[in-house]
Amino acid sequence: MSCPPAATGVTRLLSPEHLAAQLRHPHGEHALAIAESMNRSNGALNRAAIALLAVGPAERVLEIGPGNAAFAGDLLHAAGSRYLGIEVSSDMVEAAQARLHAAGLEDRAEIRLGDAHTLALPEACMDAALAVNTLYFWEDLRTPLEELARVLRPGARLCLAFGDAAFMRTLPFAAHGFHLHALAEVELALRSAGLRVCGWRSHRETGTGNDGSQIDKHFHLLLARR
Ligand SMILES: C[S@@+](CC[C@H](N)C(=O)[O-])C[C@H]1O[C@@H](n2cnc3c(N)ncnc32)[C@H](O)[C@@H]1O
Repeated sequence: MSCPPAATGVTRLLSPEHLAAQLRHPHGEHALAIAESMNRSNGALNRAAIALLAVGPAERVLEIGPGNAAFAGDLLHAAGSRYLGIEVSSDMVEAAQARLHAAGLEDRAEIRLGDAHTLALPEACMDAALAVNTLYFWEDLRTPLEELARVLRPGARLCLAFGDAAFMRTLPFAAHGFHLHALAEVELALRSAGLRVCGWRSHRETGTGNDGSQIDKHFHLLLARR
C-alpha cells in the first residue's frame, strides 16, 4: 500500500509550478498531504477570519474553497448553526466528507462539488460566508462576488482573507497563475458587487510557508455586509 508523502515533505518535493497547481486544485496522489500542509500553514489566518465573521446561533454559513473543511468545526461553535462548503476539487470534497463524518458533524455540515463562479444555490439563503486564500484562483473578482452577494440575505456578512500582494510576490509559487489583488481593488470589487465593506484587519505572523521555508506572512481580512 502506498502512503501519501508527509505533508511537510510534499511542499518541498514539488516545483513552484506544481505546488501552485496543487494549491489551486489539490488533486491526485499529493492531494491529502497538500490539504494537511494548507491546514497547518493557514490555520491562524482561518481562525482570525472565523473570529471576524462571528457566526451566531442558527446561522447558515457558506465557505468557498474549504479544502478538506478542517475549520468547519470552528465555524459551527454557535448552537444550531449550519455549514456548507463549496469546493472545486473532487479529491477535497471526498476528504472533507470523511473529515466531517469522523467529527460527527454530518447533520450540520455539508460539502458540495462546485465553483465560486456559478453557485448552485438560491438567492438570500446564507447568513454568512467566507473565503480564505481562495480568491487568487478566481478568473475575475466580479463574478464570484456577485454570486456571493446573490446568495447572501440582506444584512449577511462576507469575510475575505487573502495575502497582501507585495508579500505574495515573495513566494515563488505565486508567480504561477495566482491573481494577486491590492486591498483597494478587492474593496472596490466588493462595493461593485453590492456589498458594503464594514471592517478590515491586517494579519501578520512568522511561520512556515507552503514551500516549507520560514517567512513573515502578511494577509488582509475584509468584512463586508450585503
Ligand atoms: C489555497 S487552498 C485554501 C484552502 C483553505 N481555504 C485554507 O485556507 O487552507 C484553495 C482552495 O480553493 C479551492 N478552489 C479554487 N478555485 C475555486 C473555485 N473557483 N471555487 C471553489 N473552490 C475553489 C481549491 O480547490 C482549494 O481547495
